[in-house]
Amino acid sequence: MSNNIKGKVVVITGASSGLGEAAARLLSAEGATVVLGARRVERLQKLADELTAKGGKALAIATDVTKRSDVKKLVDAAVQKFGRIDVMINNAGLMPHSPLERLKVDEWDRMVDVNIKGVLYGIAAALEPMMRQKFGHIINVSSVAGHKVTPAGAFYAATKHAVRALSEGLRQEIKPYNLRTTIISPGAVATELPNSITEPDIAERIKQFYKDVAISADSFARAVAFAISQPEDVDINEILFRPTRQEL
Ligand SMILES: NC(=O)c1ccc[n+]([C@@H]2O[C@H](COP(=O)([O-])OP(=O)(O)OC[C@H]3O[C@@H](n4cnc5c(N)ncnc54)[C@H](OP(=O)(O)O)[C@@H]3O)[C@@H](O)[C@H]2O)c1
Repeated sequence: MSNNIKGKVVVITGASSGLGEAAARLLSAEGATVVLGARRVERLQKLADELTAKGGKALAIATDVTKRSDVKKLVDAAVQKFGRIDVMINNAGLMPHSPLERLKVDEWDRMVDVNIKGVLYGIAAALEPMMRQKFGHIINVSSVAGHKVTPAGAFYAATKHAVRALSEGLRQEIKPYNLRTTIISPGAVATELPNSITEPDIAERIKQFYKDVAISADSFARAVAFAISQPEDVDINEILFRPTRQEL
């Protein structure tokens, strides 16, 4: 029986670590062709080589999602090399938590550029070929913070609420093109994400929280695989999951 993953061409932003890397590993093991984008190209290439050595098909492309041309090149590379794009996973993001009163305006700008505009550029790049193909699946990574706002996490939560709003609008608008959309909203998952926090007191608190509750990135990969593996007439619109021990 087909898993509806095998043979699909899946583009993943932020695939050099954490959730993106875990998704790439699982989808490749399930027979998908993975096209990996991030800035740390040595890590991406190492992952692509490892997946290829295991019999998979993988391509690593240096991508900064704050540059529209980079994201377009990433998707174009998938279509040129493999003939189509089945799934676009807009996953790249950062979480530099800080209270608003500390005025870390440069970090707010960075979150707009990566967490919101990066996702928009991914949608723009994937929509062109997907509307032509009349098939495709866009998966956007939001967060529990796309549902709940916490102190020091206000602007991160704002970006993740934005991802959910965009995804729901996209879901409604792309019906004529037979496309699927999924929002994945994880709770605390053990990745490098807390390293993007620059305020020492906040970093210490969040890192301790992750140490106490975070679950493995495989949880995310399985959620992605579940959404993709559904029959094409089933559209999993959102998956919200947390560690069993996470309260908030
Ligand atoms: N871990 C969690 O608890 C959790 C919970 C909810 C939501 N999320 C979301 O999950 C997504 C992935 O985060 P993660 O937890 O896997 O953290 P991570 O390990 O820090 O990974 C972040 C990824 O984003 C990439 N990235 C950052 N800036 C980029 C840019 N300008 N261009 C291209 N890629 C960029 C990084 O690659 P390079 O540095 O190589 O570019 C890296 O591959 C984020 O959107 C995050 O908000 C995570």
